[in-house]
Amino acid sequence: MTHDIEHFIQALPKVELHLHIEGSLEPELMFDLAHRNGVALPYDSVEEIRAAYQFGNLQEFLDLYYQGMAVLRTRQDFQDLTRAYLDRVARDNVRHVEIFFDPQGHTERGVPFAETIEGILDALEEGERDLGITSGLILSILRHLPEADALKTLEAALPYRECLLGLGLDSSEVGHPPSKFTRVFEKARGLGLKVMAHAGEEGPPAYVWEALDLLKVDRIDHGNRSLEDPALVDRLVAEGMTLTVCPLSNHKLCVVEDLAQHPLKRMLDLGLKVTVNSDDPSYFGGYLGDNYRAVAQALDLSRVDLAQLASNGIEGAFLTPERKAALLDELNGHLARG
Ligand code: HPA
Ligand code: ZN
Repeated sequence: MTHDIEHFIQALPKVELHLHIEGSLEPELMFDLAHRNGVALPYDSVEEIRAAYQFGNLQEFLDLYYQGMAVLRTRQDFQDLTRAYLDRVARDNVRHVEIFFDPQGHTERGVPFAETIEGILDALEEGERDLGITSGLILSILRHLPEADALKTLEAALPYRECLLGLGLDSSEVGHPPSKFTRVFEKARGLGLKVMAHAGEEGPPAYVWEALDLLKVDRIDHGNRSLEDPALVDRLVAEGMTLTVCPLSNHKLCVVEDLAQHPLKRMLDLGLKVTVNSDDPSYFGGYLGDNYRAVAQALDLSRVDLAQLASNGIEGAFLTPERKAALLDELNGHLARG
């Protein structure tokens, strides 16, 4: 990659729309928190943890992801985790983030909902104040758990309604279709939350149709497998539906064999509103800037493509009109400077 493109990507004002905060837990912090909280880890070193991050599919990743989050216990832990993520992406000129958290991954270990959400919110507030990064928080439902659990979790979130941007759906996709959560999503929409769902990462196009028709989502997370169904592609293009694509994640989880075969460029050319995101950067080997650099290189993307991706991120974010206009101004200023 030329130095020019590298510089262009670095200075591009970027937005991240698909990030699991627990997936930003770096091995170093995992060790610190294990020590702070007296939690035993099945690893002896940071290197050993990193070496374990080889995944053949989504489930193999999820098993380590849930194991890793066991070190997160207190409000301070969640604040430290979130602050570390924001400090890291600030260096890559990330200007706005909409992040997922998985409260069920914590309440089922006895960590109160309040500890989790308040720690994250503390850091998001600091991030806006100290780093100028605006943000939204999305409560994500673990789809491998029963519907009743999801309803209980949404109930627990009611006192924090005003602090939440939306409701998401993640974890093991195949065998847990969006239809399992139709009532939960109806409730969330009734509360005025934005709604989004992971669909078409490993699951079939039918799951993307369900997310649209039954959950009435505002955004699709991943959505890669939509390409197998031309009628679905037409629908997504016609609706201007944002897809939050995660290139390094797709590679690490063997959704694509090789980054050079990643469908991102094809999706752009079809007119899909695709965005670039990191998903779980600690586990997948790169933050948002790394994802941009990786696809720019592997797919030989032009500045026009990269600007389109950044612009799709701003357009796909749930921002006030003022903040959206300000970010588009930043982007246009960057493009004018070349
Ligand atoms: N897919 C599904 N669930 C997840 C992911 C993902 O990539 N990351 C964290 N939870
Ligand atoms: Zn994800």
